[in-house]
Amino acid sequence: MPKGVPGGELLDLTVTSESLDNGNYFFVELQCIIREAHQDLQWKVGIDGKSLRQVSPNSHRYIFDRVFDTSNSTQDVYEEFGKPLVLSAMEGINGTLLAYGQTSSGKTYTMMGDEQSEGVIPKSFKEIYDYIEKHPSRKFEIHISYMEIYNEDIKDLFNPSKKNIKIHENPQKQVYVGQLTEKVVSCVTDFSKHMAFGEKNRHRWATRMNDKSSRSHAIFRVHPSRKFEIHISYMEIYNEDIKDLFNPSKKNIKIHENPQKQV
Ligand SMILES: Nc1ncnc2c1ncn2[C@@H]1O[C@H](COP(=O)(O)OP(=O)(O)OP(=O)(O)O)[C@@H](O)[C@H]1O
Ligand SMILES: [Mg+2]
Repeated sequence: MPKGVPGGELLDLTVTSESLDNGNYFFVELQCIIREAHQDLQWKVGIDGKSLRQVSPNSHRYIFDRVFDTSNSTQDVYEEFGKPLVLSAMEGINGTLLAYGQTSSGKTYTMMGDEQSEGVIPKSFKEIYDYIEKHPSRKFEIHISYMEIYNEDIKDLFNPSKKNIKIHENPQKQVYVGQLTEKVVSCVTDFSKHMAFGEKNRHRWATRMNDKSSRSHAIFRVHPSRKFEIHISYMEIYNEDIKDLFNPSKKNIKIHENPQKQV
């Protein structure tokens, strides 16, 4: 959080990062969402949508990559940050969307949503299946995992009996959480079912500021993997005769040209 910004309930800071597996490229974007609660403490978003300052004489202007104001919806946040991240993940570039902010600032509301407003995570899932539908020639397998970090203890939200899970590093210096349950999902309904199960296992209780406070950090991971089919053939050309070496009874095979003029 920028130095000097009072940590009142008006401010929710979201950090977006992208990195390549080889660690050569790393990129972090900061955006914040404000929600006006007190008459006496008001924030004004600059017309550029990239700055924020308190409504008082000589107040400091804080610069971000993007600032959303009270007229913006979760859909706006999703369109600008969630969607490009999901689409690049489907093309093989890792991405992370991180919601950070004090209690009751709207992290769960933005990421998970409620009955009235769908959150960024369910929207992402619809996007993933929309992408798969639009690319029928590509075969994907989608794995999801969901963990909670509470009091330095990592718990598997898909299998709550797994607690105190350890963090490891592989020889390629990639950090991973061991023994985490991965579910394979094949549709949006699968995803909603697993998500609801995981959510039930989270620590949550009422605080003075939020009657459904999450009380922990949670990481929801989606791992799309591409499946490739490799087709091989083996032929022999002898005396202008083409023979199929995988099926020698097929002789005198003809050469054709398709409408795209491919032989
Ligand atoms: N943009 C918004 N529009 C309308 N209601 C909102 C918005 N953001 C948050 N709320 C409401 O404010 C309350 C607190 O939000 P939420 O539970 O998302 O906070 P949180 O940041 O997850 O807090 P905690 O850290 O305690 O879990 C909820 O009742 C939520 O519905
Ligand atoms: Mg929460």
